[in-house]
Amino acid sequence: MNALEVRNLSKDFGGLRVLDNVSFSLRPGERRGIIGPNGAGKTTLFNIISGNLKPSAGDIFLYGARVTRLPSWHRSRLGLARTFQKSNLFSGLSLYDNLYLALLATDSPFNAKDILKEWGMWEKRKICVDRLSHGEQRQVELLLALAQHPRIILLDEPTAGLSPAETEVIVKIIGDLPRDITILIIEHDMEVVFALAERITVLHFGQIVAEGSKEEIKSDPRVRQIYLGIGGEGLSRAAPKRSPHLLW
Ligand SMILES: Nc1ncnc2c1ncn2[C@@H]1O[C@H](COP(=O)(O)OP(=O)(O)OP(=O)(O)O)[C@@H](O)[C@H]1O
Ligand SMILES: [Mg+2]
Repeated sequence: MNALEVRNLSKDFGGLRVLDNVSFSLRPGERRGIIGPNGAGKTTLFNIISGNLKPSAGDIFLYGARVTRLPSWHRSRLGLARTFQKSNLFSGLSLYDNLYLALLATDSPFNAKDILKEWGMWEKRKICVDRLSHGEQRQVELLLALAQHPRIILLDEPTAGLSPAETEVIVKIIGDLPRDITILIIEHDMEVVFALAERITVLHFGQIVAEGSKEEIKSDPRVRQIYLGIGGEGLSRAAPKRSPHLLW
């Protein structure tokens, strides 16, 4: 049985078709990357999988159960967690309170105190999250999602805006996750995608245009054309993050 299946998913915003008949599935424990230019529909796809947005058409299945009409809290209880491209922390609240609230939404067997001690963050529990560095905030968002004890985790650009050293910390946390956790990660940084994902799905104007191993994706003519234009010289370089045209 698949951990996640997205079947014939479409999303229209007014007259704009942002996702167009998207279908893919993840095996339990699979690590999958999603790449695609800015505006390709990646975050919209996550919003629909997590239940933050309703699809215009299509279905979502978690471990074989159709969850298309279930609210996001119900999907959390079924083992789905996510992080957000833009910070989703409760600004003005402490680290402890943010964790406490994240745990309320789930059936996590952990409590806030034990988790903070395990992370080595107990001393920082009373600090307001706004006062943490950007790198620490991204790390906390990831840890809050993991504290929910997910079976599937959706990560939306977890290293966006981070320094190379901060990126390394996040990549290690994700890379060291137990093998039974299924990971779907949106990432513009190709070094991060290639380090973490076994297979990669490419979205372009709301459609899946390629799916395969790193090697297949790197040599796919359609992907090379989308990112580099015909005659591009290769896919090995990591490009500046957030570049609208050239992503690697
Ligand atoms: N709530 C909304 N209402 C109208 N249009 C939207 C809404 N959310 C997203 N869009 C549009 O849908 C398209 C896809 O946006 P989305 O955020 O999913 O792209 P993305 O692939 O995550 O891009 P990025 O790499 O920049 O994060 C964009 O054209 C965006 O402007
Ligand atoms: Mg996005």
